Formats: sequence, C-alpha cells, structure tokens
Amino acid sequence: MGRSLESAASDNTLSVRDNRTGKTYTIPIEDNSISATAFKAISAPKAKGEREENETEKGLRVQDKGFLNTAVLRSKITYIDGDAGILRYRGYPIEQLALQSSHLETAYLLIYGSLPTSAQYKVFQGEVMHHSVVHADAEQFFRSFRYDAHPMAILTSALAYLGSYYSEANPSLQGQNLFTKGDAASLAIIDKQIFRLIGKATTLAAMAYRVRQGRDFVTPPTGLSYTGSFLYQMDHLGETDYKPNPVLEKALDVLFLIHADHELNASATTVLQTGSSLVDPYSAVAAGCASLYGPLHGGANEAVIRMLISIGRPGNVPAFIEAVKKREKVLSGFGHRVYKTSDPRSFIVRKMADEVFEVTGKDELLETAMALHEAAMKDEYFVKRKLAPNVDFWSGLIYRAMGFPLDFFPVLFAVPRVVGWLAHWRQMMLQDGGVKIWRPRQIYVGAPKRDYVTMEQRVPVEGLRETPSAVAHSGISKRTMLASFKGKAKL
Ligand SMILES: CC(C)(COP(=O)(O)OP(=O)(O)OC[C@H]1O[C@@H](n2cnc3c(N)ncnc32)[C@H](O)[C@@H]1OP(=O)(O)O)[C@@H](O)C(=O)NCCC(=O)NCCS
Repeated sequence: MGRSLESAASDNTLSVRDNRTGKTYTIPIEDNSISATAFKAISAPKAKGEREENETEKGLRVQDKGFLNTAVLRSKITYIDGDAGILRYRGYPIEQLALQSSHLETAYLLIYGSLPTSAQYKVFQGEVMHHSVVHADAEQFFRSFRYDAHPMAILTSALAYLGSYYSEANPSLQGQNLFTKGDAASLAIIDKQIFRLIGKATTLAAMAYRVRQGRDFVTPPTGLSYTGSFLYQMDHLGETDYKPNPVLEKALDVLFLIHADHELNASATTVLQTGSSLVDPYSAVAAGCASLYGPLHGGANEAVIRMLISIGRPGNVPAFIEAVKKREKVLSGFGHRVYKTSDPRSFIVRKMADEVFEVTGKDELLETAMALHEAAMKDEYFVKRKLAPNVDFWSGLIYRAMGFPLDFFPVLFAVPRVVGWLAHWRQMMLQDGGVKIWRPRQIYVGAPKRDYVTMEQRVPVEGLRETPSAVAHSGISKRTMLASFKGKAKL
C-alpha cells in the first residue's frame, strides 16, 4: 500500500478500465492486496441526472458492508486460514500452544512477538499478578449496580471506570503522543497499562460475579496461577486451605489461551477503532468489551446454552433443525465469518470437555448438543453454506459444568480476550507512520439538499420507522398518572 499509481510495477499490478471514460488505470498489488485509496484516482464527470451526493468527480469509492474483504492494517499477531481451519498465534499453531503453553505465556507471545525465556516470563508474570489488586473504592462502584445487572454490563463499565485512576496514562491529559513515541519511556507507559489491564481483568470479573452472589470481595491471592487466582477470587469463602481444583484450573487456562486472540474480530476492531482516536487503553478496551457482549460475537456461548435448553431432549433436534432451515431459528455456535470448516478451537474444547466432565459429571445437555452437532454436520443446508461448529458450540457446556452462571459466559470470553485487544492496540500505537484515525466512508443515499420548512407548512410524515414509537410506561408512572388530581373531581 502507499505506492503511487504512476510508479506501479508492471508485473504485480491490476489494470482497471473505467468504461465510463474509457481510461485505463494501473493499480499496484502489494501482498496480494490493492489500496482502496488508489481507486480514488478513478473519476468521471457527473452523469446527467446523477445525484450530487455520489461525488463522481471526486473519485471512485469502495463499498464493503461489514468489512467482508477490506484489510484495515498490517499485522504480525494472528493468522487464520478459514478454509483450512488454521489458527496461529505469531506463527505457532493453536493446537501446539493449547497443549504446551499457558495463557500468560501465550499473552507474552501475542503482545511481544516471541515465546519468553524463563527469566522474561517470570518478570512478565510477576508484573501481571502484582497489578491484579484494585483500589478499595472499587467496592462501592461494584455495589452501585442493581442486584440483577448483567455481569457484562458491570465488566464493561468497570474497565472504563478503571481508567479514571490512571491520569498518567491518559493522552487527553498527558499529550496525544503519549503512546506513540516509541521510546523507552513511552513503551514503559504502554506496558504498565498492559500489566494493569491483564492483571485486573480477572479481579474485575470476579467482583462482578461476587456482587451478584451477595458475597464479600476477595483480595487477589499470591502464589497462584492466573486462572487459579481467578477461581480463588470467585470461589473462596474463608476456608484456610482453599485451592482451586487443578483440572478445572488447567481447563480454564486452556480456554483462556484459545480465546486470547482471533485477529480482527468485531471486538478487536472496536478496540482499534476506538484507540485510533488516541484515547486511553481503558476506554478502548471497555469499548471492545461492549462489542464482545453481542450475541453474534462473545454472547454466542451463552446463546448456545439457551438454545440447547429450549431444544431440551435429543429427540427434539430434527424439529429444531427444520426451524433453522425455515429461518425461524438460528443455530448458535455454528457458522463463522472466517472459518468455512470446523473452527480448530472447537476440537480442543470438545476434547477438554470430557476431562472437565470427569470432575464435574456430564452436563445433561451434552447428549442434545451431540445430536444437534451430528444432525447439522450432515444436513445439506449447513453443508452447502459451510456452516460448522465454532468455539462457542462446546465452550458453554464446559462453563456450565463448572458451575458458572449462564450470563457469566461472555465474561469468561472477555477476560482472556483483553490480551488480544492489547496486543493489537500496542501494535497499532507502534506501527510505522503513526496512528491514523479510523474514519470509514459512507455512501450517502438520503435526501438531497432541501430547505427548512416552518411547522405550519409541514406535511406530516407517517410510518413506523419514520416516527418515534409509542412506548408503554412503567406501572409506577401509570399509577401516578391515574392518581394525579386533574382538577375535575367535586370536592
Ligand atoms: C458468526 C456469524 C455472525 C457469521 O456471519 P456472516 O459471516 O455474516 O455469515 P452469513 O450470515 O452471511 O451466513 C451465510 C449463510 O449461512 C446462514 N447462516 C450463518 N450462520 C448460521 C447459523 N448459525 N444458523 C443458521 N444459518 C446460518 C445465513 O443465513 C446465510 O444463509 P443465506 O446465504 O441463505 O442467506 C453467523 O454465522 C452467525 O450468526 N452464527 C451464530 C452466532 C455465533 O455462533 N457466533 C459466534 C461466532 S464465533
């Protein structure tokens, strides 16, 4: 990207003929990609009757609703081949990492680019665990949520709240190049926020859990692994010898590792989009957390269990599949924007499910999940559309077997994903040429220029979408309205 049209190499170029003008343009191809801005040079005179908002004379625009084929940056972090079902972190296959690495070691790999030596890992682990404690005032913040608040709403808010403690890490206060200078001091500020965010992610998540259970908060322990500390903070109830079950601690660690990054998914993109304004990383990560909350992304593991509960017995699977094919239902946990075969993480999770069930006992929904999986994998509808299980299809069953509440599942996805978000954020802050604010274009199809009309002269516009909806008011305001004296009764 970035080379001018004139200097295009003759052998690695794309020739485009604009049939409106008869002109031919040569566009450079670099890394099997073309620059969208190169198309801006392709302009034509405005056709007769054409809308001025098309801006035809200003050059061709590239449309890509939902970013189906648009690369927004160059990255060295994660590679996915969706057709072959390949996922690699910094070149290492996910299967090897899941088997041999740990979540924190993989975090180092994702953020800094190589596997750490023992000394490097010790420092990194020490920093992350050291930064797990939050200010005591955070207790009040967590207590301010209503008893039934969704933990993702709490976590998203808590991540933004966290940023309010670190004015030294706020470019709005310290200068906009705080994170982009690339010198040792700037890198140290970046890395300190990374330690803090990874370290405190488990603490905030555990607090969101405990506040809903009506339990006091627990100070992060020392001497436990990342997931061991997380389980401790959630489950410790004052026992003197409390230790998380090592099988479950390890299983959660592998789940964390395989959820740590997935290149430019919706939430990572949100973090980068938000971070591109050079806002502090706490705000950017909170924005990513909000994006992950959606049922098409991190909310899918929760949706899978709700779907399995609604199906009930394996015998009900065929009717459910038919409903999906009629588009009355969605098969949550199937399909992926990138994978057109089984998500490689789903095999790791499926295998681990059996290890967890050895400890917890089998989940009653497992049989239904297996029947659903089998039916979908051989059904023409799913085969034709290349819909296969993604990581969420099985992970929810493990979380459920481990006793996590259903609405906590997306939190178990968000906590490890903090690592990936920060790896991408750090990479962007340090990228060649500095940070460019992410500001996509649109194709304006709205009203052409028109003049303001006074209220008396307006012709009413009706329609459900064109006018504000009529909304029901809550009982209390209805009762208040009924009980309000309107001046008509005889006294
Ligand atoms: C992940 C997802 C959002 C990807 O969306 P996408 O890349 O935009 O794919 P599309 O929605 O264009 O799907 C292509 C086709 O498969 C169908 N499809 C995709 N996922 C489906 C699902 N889970 N159940 C039923 N049909 C599905 C679409 O209806 C579409 O059919 P059509 O071409 O006849 O209209 C989508 O597969 C989905 O909603 N899956 C369920 C939610 C989920 O598990 N998310 C977690 C992802 S890790």
